[in-house]
Amino acid sequence: MPEVLISEPRAGHYELALRVRNPLAESAILSDVPRMDGWLLRLGINEDGGAVAAPCRNVSGVVVGGLPGRGKSAWLASMLGSFAHRDDVQMLLIDGKQGYDLECLAPRAYRYLTGDEAGDLNAVREALHDVQTLMRHRLGNAKDIYGQSNLWAAGPSRYFPVVFVVIDECQAYLDLRSFSVKEDKAVASEIDSIVRDLVKRGRAAGIIVVLSTQRPTADSIPTSTRDNCGLRVCFSVATREAATAVLGEFTADSPQSPIGCPVGVGVASVDGWSMKFRSPYVPEALLEKAVRDCRELTADPLDLMCRAVVELTDRTNNLRGTDAAGPDNSDTSRLLPAREPLD
Ligand SMILES: Nc1ncnc2c1ncn2[C@@H]1O[C@H](COP(=O)(O)OP(=O)(O)OP(=O)(O)O)[C@@H](O)[C@H]1O
Ligand SMILES: [Mg+2]
Repeated sequence: MPEVLISEPRAGHYELALRVRNPLAESAILSDVPRMDGWLLRLGINEDGGAVAAPCRNVSGVVVGGLPGRGKSAWLASMLGSFAHRDDVQMLLIDGKQGYDLECLAPRAYRYLTGDEAGDLNAVREALHDVQTLMRHRLGNAKDIYGQSNLWAAGPSRYFPVVFVVIDECQAYLDLRSFSVKEDKAVASEIDSIVRDLVKRGRAAGIIVVLSTQRPTADSIPTSTRDNCGLRVCFSVATREAATAVLGEFTADSPQSPIGCPVGVGVASVDGWSMKFRSPYVPEALLEKAVRDCRELTADPLDLMCRAVVELTDRTNNLRGTDAAGPDNSDTSRLLPAREPLD
């Protein structure tokens, strides 16, 4: 028997688990892109071979760390690809590596910054600033536009979708020590403060920031930002410090250690509770096709909100036409979001 686990579920009762195989040791390749219908972020399979996922309702941030080539981008792409078929999900993708890691999700991203554009700090700041504008409008007008103070209570919808803001290799923007030019440092520090704001206040507005890094340190992912992230995922790292930078509290002798894990195996921490998992690999061509097939669902969430307000105005005006004696509450123009100029 390769492994025997003993536990004491209640006093005096002992449970033996005889493990004939270790699902985490064998890589798993999917022949289909799973479709996610609830609000769970698919992780993969655990040590018992069972499917594991983490809830994302009322979550404002996800941190992902791990050494280069250990499966961060592959997991992100397949996990987010599972939502591609849904019209109540939109994505902003920023690739700090300026490469192709998130390319297969591009058709479902209302904005995809890679290459030179992702190297332009002003372009990154502008894209994030638009999300901040959206968040402010959603939070400030929540009761008027979706009838609840929290988007998750109303339920995400086509006009008010969940917005995933993915910043892969976020250390390219958040590690302020790496900027020597004063102007760059100033823009990067603005990016950092927008990200902090989104993670701190975006929950009720249905905004989920995903920060991924191959260099997990407190400089790449500020500790306060990490602590506000409801889900933390750590693929293989080399040191206890790196694991702590992603997961927070962590002891090196824990059985749930990400130190030296094989490619695609990581530890996820949700509400202080952690589990080891293997993320099954979805071949890129499969993922690319599944996402491309859903490209007509892609829309900018600020534009969607404008459309929702215009429809609300039309409906209110129609109602006024049929009920002239009703109260005059037809001025919905104040709800119209406008892209705010950068300072
Ligand atoms: N879950 C997995 N199972 C098996 N192989 C995988 C898995 N995830 C990734 N791989 C393999 O490892 C390679 C690197 O993965 P990935 O690009 O996700 O790494 P990464 O952690 O994002 O690295 P980097 O920090 O350099 O961007 C993939 O191209 C794939 O071949
Ligand atoms: Mg990557």
